[in-house]
Amino acid sequence: MLPMEKVLRDPIHNYIFIQHQIILDLINTREFQRLRRIRQLGTASSTFHGAEHSRFTHSVGVYEITRQICDLFQRNYPSKAKDDGLWDDHERLVALCAALLHDIGHGPYSHTFEHIFHTDHEAITAEILTSSTTEVNQVLRRVSADFPQEVASVIQKTYPNPQVVQMISSQIDADRMDYLLRDSYYTGTNYGTFDLTRILRVMRPYKEGITFHISGMHAVEDYIVSRFQMYQQVYFHPVSRSMEVILSHLLKRAQVLYENNELDTAITPHLLLPFFENNFCLSDYLKLDDGVLTTYFIHWCESPDKILNDLANRFLNRKPLKSARFNSQTARLLPKLRILVNEAGYNPEYYTATNDSYDLPYDAYDPTSQKRRTQIELMQDDGTLVELSTISNLVAAITGKVSGDERFFFPKEMLAESSQGEIFAPIYKKFQNYIKNGRITALK
Ligand code: NI
Repeated sequence: MLPMEKVLRDPIHNYIFIQHQIILDLINTREFQRLRRIRQLGTASSTFHGAEHSRFTHSVGVYEITRQICDLFQRNYPSKAKDDGLWDDHERLVALCAALLHDIGHGPYSHTFEHIFHTDHEAITAEILTSSTTEVNQVLRRVSADFPQEVASVIQKTYPNPQVVQMISSQIDADRMDYLLRDSYYTGTNYGTFDLTRILRVMRPYKEGITFHISGMHAVEDYIVSRFQMYQQVYFHPVSRSMEVILSHLLKRAQVLYENNELDTAITPHLLLPFFENNFCLSDYLKLDDGVLTTYFIHWCESPDKILNDLANRFLNRKPLKSARFNSQTARLLPKLRILVNEAGYNPEYYTATNDSYDLPYDAYDPTSQKRRTQIELMQDDGTLVELSTISNLVAAITGKVSGDERFFFPKEMLAESSQGEIFAPIYKKFQNYIKNGRITALK
């Protein structure tokens, strides 16, 4: 315990209360401070300009919600005998550390970066916790020799106490509750708000994890609806997705040039070379942040390679690709559209893409999934549990209903009118014949 608790000011939780020396020391480690330099939402700030908040601010927020849950559990449901299914406050420190460190393995633009360079933020999280080379590990080991592994097992969901695991990762956990409220606040959208205080009040421990008292059904319902809205309106936004496409093609282009010895050596991206060579270690990974990548993108804006140069400019100066929806019937037109893009002078490998919002690392509430952590269960007065969508018509209506939103991305120039580059005008026109109201349609 700290002699005097410390507080951090926070726009979502007002105060974040730091009560343990270990927590304060973890926040002050090199690996944790690095999270200040990595944005939580990556390319979403190109759509919602306020969304510049960092993984640091989200991580301390998840810590604070977990701390509040521990306090409520200890006050209202303290364990009196072994295995009585109530809250054992000896679990508090491991829960708080896991909450604080659950995202420590993220790097800049994690989702895209992982896709291109095959890094894995979950494996890296475990490594940061358990490798004796990190400051985080040194702090955790002060608790006990096994403690780093215990904290890692909570994040990996193998820790024996399901209450601790579900606090950090389940359908209504401290992680999601913080990111929904925080992302909603910083994007300036109101969809993500819900009554956190009420949800925490109806939350309770039981033998197999965490459940909610039936009287809190409407608060839980509202949380599910907010989450649904945030996915549709913010996380799946086509412009942010298009900026992700540009980013991933930009990194891919740089790697291809490097492999062919064609990357301009005047601007060698030293910190990325271990990733281009697929031979990186933890210390290479920990050197990366949003600023490092931005610096190389600025250099690449002057690359003699036209594609690298152009993609870097599009990314930095926010020139998103356009997109159109397609479905199983119109998917057959995609090869034709790629040929037209190619004829207009854009290499389709770098200037087109298809993606589905299902590719994004967010998921909707779907109680039919087999995994246990996908259920939200409410406890009725007689102690029996009932799954949320069976008693809430509202939740039943949106369950599993998130549309895949499959899109084809292409350069905005393809929608240009004939004025620029007369020579291409007929190609543009041909292309435009296939796009109606943001959808790909067959020619009549
Ligand atoms: Ni998180």
